[in-house]
Amino acid sequence: MFFPSFLIALVSGAAVLAASPQNSTFQNPLIPGFHPDPSCIFVPEWDDTFFCATSSFNAFPGIPVFASKDLQNMKQIGNVLNRPTQLPGLGTTNGSTSGIWAPSIRYHNGTFYLVTTMVYDNLAFDNISRWDNIIFKTTDPYADHWSDPVHFMFEGYDTSPFWDLDGKTYIVGSHEYKVFPMIQGFEIDLETGVSGPIMDLWPGTGGHAPEGPHMYYKDDYYYLMIAEGGTGVTHMETIARSRNLTGPFNSNPANPILTNANTTEYFQTVGHADIFQDSHGDWWTVALSTRSGPAHVYYPMGRETILTAAKWEEGEWPILSPVRGQETGPLPRPNKNVPGIGTWIGQPTDHLTFNPGTVLPKHFVYNRFPDTSAFTISPPGHPHNLRLIPSVLNLTTLDGLTAATPQTFVGRRQEHVEFTLNVTLDFDPKQEEEEAGITVFLSQTQHFDLGVVALSPEQAVAAGYKGDSMDNTPTLSQYVRLRTISPHSSALGSKDTQSHPGIFSIGDNDSRGIKLQIEAVNSTWYAFRYQAPSQTNWTTVGWGISSEVSGGFTGTILGMFATGNGVEGKDPAYFSDFLYAGNSSVF
Ligand SMILES: *[C@@H]1O[C@H](CO)[C@@H](O)[C@H](O)[C@H]1NC(C)=O
Ligand SMILES: *[C@@H]1O[C@H](CO)[C@@H](O)[C@H](O)[C@H]1NC(C)=O
Ligand SMILES: *[C@@H]1O[C@H](CO)[C@@H](O)[C@H](O)[C@H]1NC(C)=O
Ligand SMILES: *[C@@H]1O[C@H](CO)[C@@H](O)[C@H](O)[C@H]1NC(C)=O
Ligand SMILES: *[C@@H]1O[C@H](CO)[C@@H](O)[C@H](O)[C@H]1NC(C)=O
Ligand SMILES: *[C@@H]1O[C@H](CO)[C@@H](O)[C@H](O)[C@H]1NC(C)=O
Ligand SMILES: *[C@@H]1O[C@H](CO)[C@@H](O)[C@H](O)[C@H]1NC(C)=O
Ligand SMILES: *[C@@H]1O[C@H](CO)[C@@H](O)[C@H](O)[C@H]1NC(C)=O
Ligand SMILES: *[C@@H]1O[C@H](CO)[C@@H](O)[C@H](O)[C@H]1NC(C)=O
Ligand SMILES: *[C@@H]1O[C@H](CO)[C@@H](O)[C@H](O)[C@H]1NC(C)=O
Ligand SMILES: *[C@@H]1O[C@H](CO)[C@@H](O)[C@H](O)[C@H]1NC(C)=O
Ligand SMILES: *[C@@H]1O[C@H](CO)[C@@H](O)[C@H](O)[C@H]1NC(C)=O
Repeated sequence: MFFPSFLIALVSGAAVLAASPQNSTFQNPLIPGFHPDPSCIFVPEWDDTFFCATSSFNAFPGIPVFASKDLQNMKQIGNVLNRPTQLPGLGTTNGSTSGIWAPSIRYHNGTFYLVTTMVYDNLAFDNISRWDNIIFKTTDPYADHWSDPVHFMFEGYDTSPFWDLDGKTYIVGSHEYKVFPMIQGFEIDLETGVSGPIMDLWPGTGGHAPEGPHMYYKDDYYYLMIAEGGTGVTHMETIARSRNLTGPFNSNPANPILTNANTTEYFQTVGHADIFQDSHGDWWTVALSTRSGPAHVYYPMGRETILTAAKWEEGEWPILSPVRGQETGPLPRPNKNVPGIGTWIGQPTDHLTFNPGTVLPKHFVYNRFPDTSAFTISPPGHPHNLRLIPSVLNLTTLDGLTAATPQTFVGRRQEHVEFTLNVTLDFDPKQEEEEAGITVFLSQTQHFDLGVVALSPEQAVAAGYKGDSMDNTPTLSQYVRLRTISPHSSALGSKDTQSHPGIFSIGDNDSRGIKLQIEAVNSTWYAFRYQAPSQTNWTTVGWGISSEVSGGFTGTILGMFATGNGVEGKDPAYFSDFLYAGNSSVF
């Protein structure tokens, strides 16, 4: 929802807006890591605060919500989707492109609305059941308790609400583009989801997959701003306007208004934008972008949220500054006075000590719904540890329907190109293939897992173990193993063409209190290391190289896991001192 300046003046009680601040320089991305499809609003009634939300796909809790006073320090104050009962379907989605796509956050008459689409990417489904469009709401975003969703019918995605001057409410959305590309709109009752006849509004300028529409009303025009070109390197933002909400919509002759297509910029895939005005009347745009360069092969950070300045003069089309790593604009003064419990995103240090009586912070996520009994902070006899009970499923498992229990996996997004992650693991696996450790998780078909595992000598050799004394080993012994799972190779589960898995034998006692480490040494290479209690040096087990093959919609989650690899695990894994240190001078 766009806030006309007269409204801001009324709210602040001032006759005129204060002058814009001096330009300052800022660094993109605004919300680093797996935070695509941003939507943001400015809410004067909530103490001049910006609120944003991003897509979360299969991550749970899902739909992270951020609050900011300065458009620089972004605090994750909650997650719209934080109870399985809100959307049970997320527990059984198939594939990494399913789940929550493209939220639109809006504020109207005292209520915050979050409209989005729960996507079931399965060809077996007919087109209508692929898209579950939903409306959440809350009157207090800091309470971190959004409503159960109201569902509405729409054969498409990227739905966004708009309130017309006459009090009627509409949704604009992207019709399933494989059928015919069209931005559509319809009247809706947000309380019941009952909607009116569908209107074709604008097909875009001819780019592939017109999507991510938002409608704004300004200076007697209805503006429809959309993304086109698909979410890859041909992505762009275009805009049309009409005197009538129902059209016809006339395309801006200057389209696209934002893109990095056909450039050599590091920040590529720019599009899927939202536009809003701050308390000084200055305009801003958020959009998604990928730090991949034009080659667009390696981008472990996934699609991130960027900020760019905009100008929107009366009666004119908006002009958006091109997206760069470093930009300038009249940013609000730095202000971290944001209430609520949460995490400042992009902080270089994240140290979890699992203190008794605490819960995991709001930026930690599971893959779909967890079995909460498999995760215990400070269990009896193990204060300051996170106990994980191994799940039947491992991280490669393709869908949520093949086993009775979910995956034992929890982690946080990679928010820095270069980082080091250390954790201490106390795990004494006694069952064949029982495994626990840490992972670089992009999707079920692309993840690198460094763990302690119990293997028979035959399995160890099959896994690449080349050490000696194989003849003398007992039936099972313990190893540090790196698996590099990637769809580069046809046989799922075998190594890709570039990553280097590894396996090292360790003594039984060395699996108690072993340190595991992941270091992103540069923008594409992860090093995996361990240091057993009896050792003074780190040993590099292997390397993982991240690439586009995971489908490119999500981004990296760095997590802890425990699995029986197909059977129920018995032996608990205790993790302590989870320490993530990102290098905030590398972009
Ligand atoms: C997931 O895939 C399985 C196997 O193809 C299928 O039976 C099931 O209906 C799918 N579930 C969803 C929610 O798409
Ligand atoms: C705004 O909300 C109040 C209180 O919920 C309600 O009484 C009023 O009708 C609403 N106004 C509009 C324009 O929707
Ligand atoms: C469903 O979508 C497919 C493409 O994804 C299209 O070929 C087909 O015509 C659609 N079916 C209906 C009934 O719209
Ligand atoms: C706006 O659209 C409505 C519905 O199609 C139509 O009745 C009306 O005449 C249009 N108004 C203008 C100014 O074009
Ligand atoms: C990029 O270049 C291609 C080929 O010239 C052109 O068709 C396309 O429209 C350009 N895209 C943008 C967003 O400028
Ligand atoms: C301030 O930044 C905006 C957005 O980048 C730019 O359009 C404007 O020219 C800048 N103003 C000055 C005085 O540098
Ligand atoms: C392993 O630890 C146990 C219990 O602390 C101890 O009795 C045993 O000697 C240790 N074994 C080795 C090989 O260090
Ligand atoms: C990243 O680091 C690896 C390991 O040191 C090195 O082989 C590779 O060339 C580096 N890549 C880049 C792009 O710097
Ligand atoms: C540890 O590393 C140092 C420096 O590389 C080396 O001199 C030393 O031999 C190593 N110690 C062991 C036990 O591998
Ligand atoms: C995952 O577990 C299955 C058994 O459920 C096993 O067949 C497969 O090898 C495991 N793969 C990986 C990569 O973990
Ligand atoms: C990880 O451990 C290494 C070696 O002990 C240390 O140099 C580094 O600072 C640690 N990093 C983090 C993030 O804990
Ligand atoms: C961060 O990266 C910079 C630039 O490569 C480097 O100089 C610095 O040592 C790094 N800091 C850490 C803590 O690794």
